[in-house]
Amino acid sequence: MMVTICFGGSVLAPEEPNVSLVKEAARAIRVLKSERYNVLVVTGGGGTARKYMGAAKILGTSGIYLDKIGIDVSRLNARMLISALGNVAEPDPVTTVEAAVRAVLKNKVPVMGGTNPGQTTDTVAAMVAKASRSDVLVFFSDVDGIYTADPKRDPLAKKIERMTTVELANKFGRVKTEPGMKTIIDPVAAQLIERSKMKALFLGVEEMGRLPEILKGANHNGTTIIPVSE
Ligand code: UTP
Repeated sequence: MMVTICFGGSVLAPEEPNVSLVKEAARAIRVLKSERYNVLVVTGGGGTARKYMGAAKILGTSGIYLDKIGIDVSRLNARMLISALGNVAEPDPVTTVEAAVRAVLKNKVPVMGGTNPGQTTDTVAAMVAKASRSDVLVFFSDVDGIYTADPKRDPLAKKIERMTTVELANKFGRVKTEPGMKTIIDPVAAQLIERSKMKALFLGVEEMGRLPEILKGANHNGTTIIPVSE
């Protein structure tokens, strides 16, 4: 079984590196490898990326250059996770989707951050999942699933347990983007998931240790995206 996992920067380094969550992520990946899963990993930039992007903005830069800072920091987080994974991982963060697929075919775990300006690591994860023909794409973030509204702002927001790929694209596929934006999934990734009819899971960090059993079908408290054609 092939699985792509995207760890949001909000998980690995919300303000600064979260060492215990990085360890837990590495532990879950090692368990999956020992159970013969093929694993590809994408890491986000998190609070560190936003701090550097904020500073660079004050210093006068904008647009693509801000994106490039976000990409650099997401790669720094990739390197941090590689430090915890040791030799099951490709030793350096890979920088292209093709290199990620080559690494997984060599039985290594590729860990990568961003690739091109103008998107987020959600899109990278969707592209990696598609290119590697992953059976499932898993997103871990600081929100434990997809809600009817942003649960950090709306106390009446309710979690959605199951959604189709079409419903995901309808809900998130047309949101306006900007460097450092914060939504549970970016619009391009939502559209890619729909177009590729990809199974996806949106899980909170509390479920990280249970990932191996969740992939085998155990219940979880996140949101499952079910592939359908329109
Ligand atoms: P991230 O995708 O790292 O966000 O992109 P994040 O920190 O994980 O998000 P959450 O908080 O965990 O959900 C950070 C920024 O880096 C740039 C974009 O500006 C993006 O908003 N970026 C990232 C790119 O331009 N291209 C990429 O491929 C990835």
